[in-house]
Amino acid sequence: MFTFPLPLFSFMLILFSTATTTTAQPYKPTDYFLLNCGGATTTSDRKWDTDERSKFLPSTTSFTSTPNNPNPSVPEIPYSTARIFNTSSFTYTFPVTNGPKFLRLYFYPATYSGYQANQSFFSVSSNGYTLLSNFSAFLTASYLETKLVGSPPIPNFIKEYLIYVSDTQSLNVTFTPSPNSYAFINGIEIVSLPENLYYKSKKMKYVGQTSGPMIKEDTGLENIYRLNVGGSQISPKNDTGMYRSWHQDDRYLFPVTALGKTPDYQSPIIYTADTPNYTAPELVYATQRSMGQLSELYNLTWLLEVDSGFYYMLRLHFCSIIEGYTRLGSAAFKIFINNQTAEEHVDLFYWTQGTGFPVFRDYVVFVYDFDGSGRKQDIWLALAPKLDARPQYSDAFLNGLEVFKLSMKGNLAGPNPELRPTPPPPSPPSPSREKRTLPYAAIIGGICGALVLMLLVLGFILFRRVKRSGDMSSDQQKSKDSGLPSGRCRRFTIQEVKDATREFDETRVIGRGGFGMVYIGYIDNDKTAVAIKRLNALSQQGFHEFQTEIGLLSKLRHVQLVSLIGYCDEEGEMVLVYDYMSNGTLQDHLYKGKNPNLPWKQRLEICIGAAKGLHYLHTGANRAIIHRDVKSTNILLDENFVAKVADFGLSKLGPKEKGVDYVNTAVKGTLGYMDPEYYKYQQLTEKSDVYSFGAVLLEVLCSRPVIITRGVPDEEMNLAEWGRKNYGKGTLHEIVDKRIRDEIAPNCLMKFGEVANSCLRMKGSKRPKMDEVVWRLEFALQLQEAAEKIDGEVSGDMKGGSGMSGNQEFMFPVKEEDVSVVEEYEYNYDLEGTSTGVGIQHELTSTDGSSHEVFVSEKVLPR
Ligand SMILES: *[C@@H]1O[C@H](CO)[C@@H](O)[C@H](O)[C@H]1NC(C)=O
Ligand SMILES: *[C@@H]1O[C@H](CO)[C@@H](O)[C@H](O)[C@H]1NC(C)=O
Ligand SMILES: *[C@@H]1O[C@H](CO)[C@@H](O)[C@H](O)[C@H]1NC(C)=O
Ligand SMILES: *[C@@H]1O[C@H](CO)[C@@H](O)[C@H](O)[C@H]1NC(C)=O
Ligand SMILES: *[C@@H]1O[C@H](CO)[C@@H](O)[C@H](O)[C@H]1NC(C)=O
Ligand SMILES: *[C@@H]1O[C@H](CO)[C@@H](O)[C@H](O)[C@H]1NC(C)=O
Ligand SMILES: *[C@@H]1O[C@H](CO)[C@@H](O)[C@H](O)[C@H]1NC(C)=O
Ligand SMILES: *[C@@H]1O[C@H](CO)[C@@H](O)[C@H](O)[C@H]1NC(C)=O
Repeated sequence: MFTFPLPLFSFMLILFSTATTTTAQPYKPTDYFLLNCGGATTTSDRKWDTDERSKFLPSTTSFTSTPNNPNPSVPEIPYSTARIFNTSSFTYTFPVTNGPKFLRLYFYPATYSGYQANQSFFSVSSNGYTLLSNFSAFLTASYLETKLVGSPPIPNFIKEYLIYVSDTQSLNVTFTPSPNSYAFINGIEIVSLPENLYYKSKKMKYVGQTSGPMIKEDTGLENIYRLNVGGSQISPKNDTGMYRSWHQDDRYLFPVTALGKTPDYQSPIIYTADTPNYTAPELVYATQRSMGQLSELYNLTWLLEVDSGFYYMLRLHFCSIIEGYTRLGSAAFKIFINNQTAEEHVDLFYWTQGTGFPVFRDYVVFVYDFDGSGRKQDIWLALAPKLDARPQYSDAFLNGLEVFKLSMKGNLAGPNPELRPTPPPPSPPSPSREKRTLPYAAIIGGICGALVLMLLVLGFILFRRVKRSGDMSSDQQKSKDSGLPSGRCRRFTIQEVKDATREFDETRVIGRGGFGMVYIGYIDNDKTAVAIKRLNALSQQGFHEFQTEIGLLSKLRHVQLVSLIGYCDEEGEMVLVYDYMSNGTLQDHLYKGKNPNLPWKQRLEICIGAAKGLHYLHTGANRAIIHRDVKSTNILLDENFVAKVADFGLSKLGPKEKGVDYVNTAVKGTLGYMDPEYYKYQQLTEKSDVYSFGAVLLEVLCSRPVIITRGVPDEEMNLAEWGRKNYGKGTLHEIVDKRIRDEIAPNCLMKFGEVANSCLRMKGSKRPKMDEVVWRLEFALQLQEAAEKIDGEVSGDMKGGSGMSGNQEFMFPVKEEDVSVVEEYEYNYDLEGTSTGVGIQHELTSTDGSSHEVFVSEKVLPR
C-alpha cells in the first residue's frame, strides 16, 4: 500500500499546480474529521485519527476488534479495525461549524470477536435524521457485490450522507444495535462543503410533477451514485477538496453495448460563477459518453437502482468537449427520466459560453413504492437527440451524474436488500438470481468496455450457420426461450460456459469457421439450449469497421431475427451465446443436408418469415439497417421451422440524409446473391437485400445452389439469371424442384415467380420493398391454400408461369352473388427486354364473411 507524507504536503502540491495552470482550485473544508474507528492514528492515503479516548467518544460502552480472516483485497485502513457496540446506543459527537457536511460511514462486515457478520443489525441516526434502520451491513455488502462485476468483489463500502448543521454547532452520530444484536463501524469521515453546492439549488426541475421538495436546511441527503460518465474512477484525493469518489458508469449503462466514450478533452475546463471550480473535478468534465452516429436509433440509457418511496435528485454534469461542436445548434438533445421528458431541449451553446464550459442541472423525481415494500427499482435516465430542432449532429452526451436520495420526514433509511448469495465460482448460479441481477451484472466493471464491444462485433462478423451435428439427438434440444429480459445482454462466467459445453467437448461442435468453433450448450440448469461460439483470440479483423453497427444490432429483437443472449470474456476466452436454432440453416433443408423434403407450403412460410425479419431490419429502427449478406445459410430454422435471419456481421446502416437513398461502401457479400447495381456502383440500399432475397426465393423454389460452376450449361450457372429467363419464357415450372412440383398451385407459382422476378430486377428502384415482398408472398400462400381447398383441380394444369399469353384469369369456385369485392390492386411488371404487363389483383370476400379469396388477372402490354 502506498503511503503519502502528510496530507498537507500533497494539498500544497495541488495548490502549487493550480497556480501555474487553470486546474480547478480545490475547496478547502472548514471541518474535516477522519476517524479510524477502533484503530490507531495512522496514515495511509490520508491521515486517519484514532477514535480512542478522543473527545468524540464520551463513554466506553464499546470495544474494539479486528476482523477474522480479513479479505486481502479490502484496504487495511480503516477496515482492519472496528468499534463494536453490543449493549446500548452510542454517540459520537463532532464539534463543527454550521452549514452542510458530508458524513461518510465506512463499513466492512466481517466476523468480529466471534460476532458473525450476518448477526449485526443496527440503526444510525444523526442530528435528527434516521440514516439507517435495522441495517445489515452484511446484506448491503452482498447486494453491492452482485452489482459489481470485477474480481474479486469487495465487501467493504462507504455510505455517504449530507447533513445541514443549522445552529447546534455539533454533528452527532448515534449507533443503536437492534435487540440481541450488535453495531459496528470501521471509519467515520466528516467534511464540510460549500454552502450552495447541493443545497438551495436554483437549477432544479421536477420530473412528472409541477412542484416538489426543495433541498433546504431541513433536508437530509444520501448519495447513491456519483459517476464520472465515460471516464475513469476518480479517487477522493483527486476530488476538488471534498474527498468525493467518482465511479465509472459502465455498469449502469443499458444495454451493455452502448459505448461511445468521447476522447478526453485536452484543453482546460473553464469554470464560472454558475459552475464554480469545486463543483466537480476537471476530469469529470473532460470525459464524457456520447451517442455518436447511431443516435437516432436508440436512447443513451442508464439504469440506476434505488429504494422506492423516496424523492431523488439527479445532478447531470455537462460540458461540450467534442471538437466539431462549435456553435448553437451543433448538437441538441432531450433528457428523459423514468420515461418522462425532463428537459425538452439541451444545447450547451445555449446553456454556456461554449466548448469547455461546464454546467450542471438538477432534476427531482419521485420513485413510487407501489406495493409498500420499499423494494429497489430502476430510475431510467435516457438521452436522445432532438431531431426536430434539426441539429447539425444528431448526438447527445453526458459527462457526470450524481444521484441523491432526499429524506422523507427525517428518514433516509430503506429496507435491507434481500440476500442474494454470491455463488461460489465453480457452480453456476440459479436462473432466477441471474435474471434478477442481470441488468447490473451484465456490465463489465474494471475491464475496458471496448472488449465487450469487440466480442459482440466479432460475434456478428463471425456468426456462421449453425449446422446440425449428426450425433445430437433431438430430445436433447429443449427450450428455445432463454427467458431473458429482451434487449439485455447477459454476462456468463467461464465456468457456466464450460459447464454448458462440457469443457468445450468435441462432440458438442455443431459448426466450424475460420473464426472459431460453434458448440451446442445447455444453460440454466440444462433447460435452455444455446449456440456457443468460441472465438479464436487472434481473429480480430473487421473490428473497427463494424464497431458502431454492432452496438445497435445487439439491441434488435424480433421473432424473425436470431438474437444474441450474452457473452463471456473470462480467462482470455471470447465467447458469444446465441439462441440455438435446432433445425440449422434453410440451405440444409433445400439441398445440402440429408434432411427430409420440405413441403412447398412450409417453404413458403419460411420465406415469409425471413422476409418479415428483413423488413424489420429495414424499418424497425429509425434508420434502415441493410443486412448485406442475405442467403440461405443465413436463414436459420428453429425447432418449429420458424425462420430467423442471422449473421449481421456485414450489416450496414442505411443513409441518414434525406434525399439520399444509398450508402457508399466497399462491396461485400456472397457471389450469386449480390445485387448487380451495388456491385457496379458500390451504392448500397435496402434494395440490395431485396435482390439477394430474390435469389433465395429461387433457391427455395428450385432447391439448387445460386451458383453452379461445373456440370451445367453456362446459362444455368447463375440461378438468378436462369430463373428470370424461365420466368420470362413462362417455363418456370420446368425448373422447380421435382419433389414439390406437383404440390404447387399454378397461380401460386406464378405469383411466387413474379415476386422473385421483381426482387431480381436490375434496377434497385424497380424492386419492391420488403413489406411488399412479405405481402405478396402472403398472397401467394393464400393462393396455395385456396387451391388446396379445391384439391384435385390443382394437379392437372401445370402451365404456371407469367400469364404471358394474353389475358389469363384464374377463377375460383366462388359464385358472383356470394362475393363482395374488397380491393383491387393494379401493379406493373416488367420483363426486361421482352414486354411489360399490368396485373389486377382482386381480393374477394364472401358476403357472409366465411371465406376470403383472391385472384389475379393480367394483361401483357407490348413494349
Ligand atoms: C458485550 O461484549 C463484551 C465483550 O465481548 C462482553 O463482555 C459483554 O458480555 C457483551 N454484552 C452483551 C450484552 O452481549
Ligand atoms: C450466518 O453466517 C454463518 C456463517 O458465517 C452461518 O453458519 C449462519 O447460518 C448464518 N446465519 C444466518 C441467520 O444466516
Ligand atoms: C449532540 O450531543 C451533545 C451531547 O450529548 C448535545 O449537547 C448536542 O445538543 C447534540 N447535538 C445535536 C444536534 O443533537
Ligand atoms: C431486522 O431485520 C431482520 C432481517 O431483515 C429481521 O429479522 C428483524 O426482525 C428486524 N428487526 C427489527 C427490530 O426490525
Ligand atoms: C490523481 O490523478 C492523477 C492523474 O490525473 C493520477 O496520476 C493520480 O494517481 C491520482 N491520484 C490518486 C490518489 O488516485
Ligand atoms: C476557483 O476557486 C478559488 C477559491 O475559491 C476562487 O478564488 C476562484 O475565483 C475560483 N475560480 C473560478 C473561475 O471560479
Ligand atoms: C421505461 O420504459 C421501459 C421500456 O419502455 C420500461 O421497461 C421501463 O419499465 C420504463 N421505466 C419506468 C420507470 O417507467
Ligand atoms: C427514448 O425514450 C423515450 C422516453 O422513454 C421514448 O419515448 C422513446 O421512444 C425512446 N426512443 C428510442 C429510440 O428508444
